[in-house]
Amino acid sequence: MLKLKNLYYHPSTAEKPVLKNINLKAFFGSPVMISGASGTGKTSLIEVISGLTKPQKGAIYWNGIKINERQRRWLSGVVFQFPERHFLGLSVAQELHLGHRRLSSEYQIKSLKKVGLSDVNLKEAPEKLSGGQQRRLALAVQLLRDPSILLLDEPTAGLDWSVKNEILELLTSIAKEQILIVVTHEPDLFKDIVMDSYHLYKGELHYKK
Ligand SMILES: Nc1ncnc2c1ncn2[C@@H]1O[C@H](COP(=O)(O)OP(=O)(O)O)[C@@H](O)[C@H]1O
Ligand SMILES: [Mg+2]
Repeated sequence: MLKLKNLYYHPSTAEKPVLKNINLKAFFGSPVMISGASGTGKTSLIEVISGLTKPQKGAIYWNGIKINERQRRWLSGVVFQFPERHFLGLSVAQELHLGHRRLSSEYQIKSLKKVGLSDVNLKEAPEKLSGGQQRRLALAVQLLRDPSILLLDEPTAGLDWSVKNEILELLTSIAKEQILIVVTHEPDLFKDIVMDSYHLYKGELHYKK
């Protein structure tokens, strides 16, 4: 179980605190949605949970034990918003290799299968894939490390409707294998696939159901 307790985050470059007194619990196999308008702190919360940044107050627990930033980076897989803009590999295989350097091609193929990309050519350039395939690839890169906590920042942003549904189906199929936290400004899309919903408003998190 992941537990956030009284988190407070105020980067020195921000005028006001970005996250205030955040409390949240997330369990294996029970996907969590965090909704909120633009600028309310969703991406910052992902950065704090995944250990990319440090809150000024509060603590994060993993199965009852307090964990630091390094431990959180180790446990987490993050797919940021518009991941396809940040592909570095010249091919699908290279992109996967950047995700985990020591894994065999057999393992790469396994993670592509998990995201429904079995048929994709490993030599294909990532930018040649369709929008939905690119999102799947970004997810496969994170799944290579078998993260216990998977954090997705606006996974359906900028996709066509049919592709949004494709991604939703995929998330339903992988939701049981780790803690899954999805951050979105489109809560209606995800409401049927999540167990717990929170709403973030001006840096304050409220439990919805
Ligand atoms: N490191 C930072 N320095 C200054 N301001 C920040 C920093 N991180 C976040 N903010 C501010 O905090 C607010 C929330 O940002 P963000 O987490 O990106 O929200 P969201 O993902 O919901 O759009 C914004 O007003 C943003 O400018
Ligand atoms: Mg954001």
